[in-house]
Amino acid sequence: MIRSVIRGSGSALPAQVVTNADLQERVETSDEWIVERTGIRQRYIAGEGETTSTLATAAARRALEAAGMEASAIDLIVLATATPDQTFPATATIVQDNLGCNGGIAFDVAAVCSGFLYAMATADSMLRTGMAKRALVIGAETFSKILDWDDRTTCVLFGDGAGAIVLEAQDVAEDGPGLIATRLHADGAHNELLYVDGGPSTTGTVGHLRMKGREVFRHAVVNLADVLKEVLEGTGYSASDIDWVVPHQANARILDATARKLGLSIDKVIVTVDQHANTSAASVPLAYDTAVRDGRIKPGDLVMFEAMGGGFTWGASLARV
Ligand code: UT7
Repeated sequence: MIRSVIRGSGSALPAQVVTNADLQERVETSDEWIVERTGIRQRYIAGEGETTSTLATAAARRALEAAGMEASAIDLIVLATATPDQTFPATATIVQDNLGCNGGIAFDVAAVCSGFLYAMATADSMLRTGMAKRALVIGAETFSKILDWDDRTTCVLFGDGAGAIVLEAQDVAEDGPGLIATRLHADGAHNELLYVDGGPSTTGTVGHLRMKGREVFRHAVVNLADVLKEVLEGTGYSASDIDWVVPHQANARILDATARKLGLSIDKVIVTVDQHANTSAASVPLAYDTAVRDGRIKPGDLVMFEAMGGGFTWGASLARV
């Protein structure tokens, strides 16, 4: 059967680290509150010359290197972001030009924190139907540019970064590597719980992120537990077969609650929220690449990716890596 196989991963972070103590200087907050409520200890914030496309390009180069592939082998780039360099063209086309693999398909996907799951599913569909052979799937964000730095309820939660994987269409055995199953959802009724209060067609400004965190938290735990069970259905696998869960990194308490609902030990969950904070569409590939490079995720492992974010959008994907 034709499956999309993960051939390599890469990630990139801005040079500047901002700690909770640094934020204490800016808004009325404390390291204690941030760590206790979210698990976040620090985040990386883009400086001069660092944009969504520069971080995405660096992550993509590392993923290509890990895959042992030249950029010229790539005929599809799907980039998930809510913070593009420009309103248009798509940041994916900027990355394509930076890599010098012009001519293939390149476009952005907007599903906020679930963006990487949506991008991976889109690339997977295109690879399995033969529209392309090798794809770069990238999640890249500079949320620091859309934060209200006077709003303590949101500015302490997010960071910047990028992660990427190379997917290749391969003819594999049923128990071989590749993406096995994906489920995606959206419910547009919850716009007012997590949104940006600006945009080209409304205010003509970029706007700032606004979130009713407590309500989002409640929906996240329920939706993620449901979609994780749903994606396992019909695959022949159960939660106990999963070697690693690679979740969206919004809040350590959401990761704990989701693992508990699945009956999984938190030791099987890749946690990077303490180091990276919430990097929206970048957080899943950033966490995946971190765990591949530190040797936790190994070839042959059964990995569950999952995310939930603005829209609401949410989804999960099961893969043999
Ligand atoms: O990535 C997309 C998905 N996003 C998420 O999944 C985020 C989900 N939500 C969360 O992670 C949590 O709800 C937050 C971390 C955002 C907030 O944690 P919480 O335990 O739900 O706190 P809360 O919003 O109920 O606020 C508790 C208190 C409030 O004070 P009062 O009203 O009880 O007096 C807040 O004003 O904490 C206060 N507070 C802060 N205090 C110190 C809010 N932000 C801060 C802060 N420092 N930075």
